[in-house]
Amino acid sequence: MKLFIDSANLEEIKKYLDQGLCDGVTTNPTTFFKLGIKGNDIKKRVLEIATLINPLPLSVEVTSENPEEIMKQAREFSSWADNIVVKVTVTDSRGNSLLAAIHQLVKDGITVNVTMVMTFNQAILTAKSIAAGMRESAIGGLRKHCISIFAGRISEEYGVETAFGIIRDAVEWLKIHEFEYVEILIASIRNPENIEYFSKAGGHIMTVPPEALSKSLVSSRTKEGVAQFMEDAKKSQ
Ligand code: E4P
Repeated sequence: MKLFIDSANLEEIKKYLDQGLCDGVTTNPTTFFKLGIKGNDIKKRVLEIATLINPLPLSVEVTSENPEEIMKQAREFSSWADNIVVKVTVTDSRGNSLLAAIHQLVKDGITVNVTMVMTFNQAILTAKSIAAGMRESAIGGLRKHCISIFAGRISEEYGVETAFGIIRDAVEWLKIHEFEYVEILIASIRNPENIEYFSKAGGHIMTVPPEALSKSLVSSRTKEGVAQFMEDAKKSQ
């Protein structure tokens, strides 16, 4: 399972790169808003992250619900750096499908991360749309696209078992039907318990906020054990 850092904080990303725990980075409009990064500074930060993690992928989300504008933004974002993956929500906020735009982007050779996926049906229909785009593309290429299933948000509404089942079933479905260029990304992770639980669902990628990741490395028994070893080592000098 690849591990992505769900953050636009350069120091945090570097911290996990240095530990060999960063296979990519994901962002969304809320990520930048929470850090107070606005306007042209967003592009600046995107370029900083893309350079820092190059050639690892950086997901950047479009900020429109209009298919024409989505495609315009997607083309622009993907021209910023080779490792930028464009995030597009599976539907708009009224439930209208955005798969036509996504299909066209894939045809045009743009790598996509289809986001806000909450159901098994959304996941498999998205996979079909991406696969068709790849088949029809004159550009070709072997870049993998991904589908972000929002484990945390689904759990809040229907429980963790439901979220786990959707991820596991979507992964299995992709495998049975040989969708080898579409990966399931487990998103919306809230805490270390979510990391442990959803890591077992078979998703290809998990994106994790830095706080949940740093807490995952701490155990009071490890701290206690190390302190004891250090103390005994001193006594045996
Ligand atoms: C990742 O790509 C998502 O944008 C992220 O995990 C968002 O999850 P949340 O908005 O439920 O916190």
